Amino acid sequence: MSQNKNNNAVWNTRIKKKTSNIFKKVGSSIEVDKRLYKEDIFTSVSHAEMLYKQKIITIKIKDKILWGLKRIQNEIERKKFKFDRDLEDIHMNIENRLFELIGNDAGYLHSARSRNDQVVTDLKLWIKKSSTEIDNLLLKVIKSLIKISEKNIYSIMPGFTHLKNAQPISLAHYFLSNVEMFKRDQFRFSCSMKSLNQNPLGAGAFSGTSFNIDRWYTTKKLKFKEPTNNSLDTVSDRDFVLDFLYNSSVCSMHISRIAEELIIWNSDQFKFISLKDNIVTGSSIMPQKKNPDTLEFLRGKTGSIFGNLFSMLTIVKGLPISYFKDLQDDKDLVFRSFDNLKNCLIIFDEVINGVIVNKKVMLEAAKVGFTTATDFADALVKNMNFSFREAYMLTAKVVNLAEKKNLALNELGHEDLKKIIPKISLDVMQNLDLKNSVNSKKSYGGTSFENIKKMIRKHKKEIK
Ligand code: ARG
Repeated sequence: MSQNKNNNAVWNTRIKKKTSNIFKKVGSSIEVDKRLYKEDIFTSVSHAEMLYKQKIITIKIKDKILWGLKRIQNEIERKKFKFDRDLEDIHMNIENRLFELIGNDAGYLHSARSRNDQVVTDLKLWIKKSSTEIDNLLLKVIKSLIKISEKNIYSIMPGFTHLKNAQPISLAHYFLSNVEMFKRDQFRFSCSMKSLNQNPLGAGAFSGTSFNIDRWYTTKKLKFKEPTNNSLDTVSDRDFVLDFLYNSSVCSMHISRIAEELIIWNSDQFKFISLKDNIVTGSSIMPQKKNPDTLEFLRGKTGSIFGNLFSMLTIVKGLPISYFKDLQDDKDLVFRSFDNLKNCLIIFDEVINGVIVNKKVMLEAAKVGFTTATDFADALVKNMNFSFREAYMLTAKVVNLAEKKNLALNELGHEDLKKIIPKISLDVMQNLDLKNSVNSKKSYGGTSFENIKKMIRKHKKEIK
């Protein structure tokens, strides 16, 4: 690369003093953005091919550039490449090496582009690729949830509101609710593809370029769908970064909610589930302990994933419209959220496969707290023509009586019930059986066994 005496960076031709050492150290992004090397080389190859097609560079120079870039990729992959912090970032590191390999012809590559459009192009390509990876991991989690649902169609548990026993449901209904959450996550990541598919390359520093470039050509080469429409917005826009960080946050929040619930279920008070040994850890002092550390890890990581979203929002909130150095931090935030979310999804999948359901305990728990009271009220409406509000009030009295006598609803005698509802017939009592209660919720999306089987079939079909 062309160098001057004081500094080895090309943009320092006019700057005569050495850059502050501390700033060189902390202002360099190479340790973070070297992860973009593949995307950066892909972008440069497409740019060089476009420059040649548009007769901006000769075939000889283009071929030399492509040869050099290929060799650089090889060096990086074989860990032979020497990254230099003084060269600030991945773009300058690669350009510098290209000069070493092919000499001054390397200088033709940067015609009609700037690092400002280059870095957004690289990052969009990286996020596109990584979103697909997240999508695949989500699919794996969804499959595991369907598997555990299939095994637990007839496992009955107390459904909660306010963490108080409310109505019995099938455990499969619970895990299928998780499936819906993760399917929405997949959908959310896919919605972000529209802006990720707009090609930033060719925006230059921010105003476009006077070279006769073909942005549709690089769009096709780089597998984008269309070029961005406004060069100034292009180098300034980090909405696609926010989208990724937000999507990751919601997905992580989903994992965290389920983790919290499973921690409660695994507690000695609940004992609804236990966890296989590969997903628990011991205590350094209490020999008896098996702690759900993996679940706590999942819940905890949500904090830093949310944090990255808020960091990025804060970085852009006061930025005028163009490129500023502030934006350099975007990559660190994206990479950290991605790494965390990826690990969390892999661990979460192991957790789901490591859940041991204590069906008996769950069933017993479902009997506590008059969980079929709503069914009783519904039956009064259906069999005896009460309005729901009348039935609600009568049922409340029945519950009071059962509570006083320390009995479950279905343990009350006909005589007891007659004191509150004189004309009551005994078939109302059928509705107090837990299985019947669950199976009676046949409305679309309800917890009846048939519905659950139907939903499992639907999910399986959609996955194929
Ligand atoms: N390392 C920079 C970043 O990640 C690349 C863009 C630099 N552009 C500039 N005008 N300084 O944001």
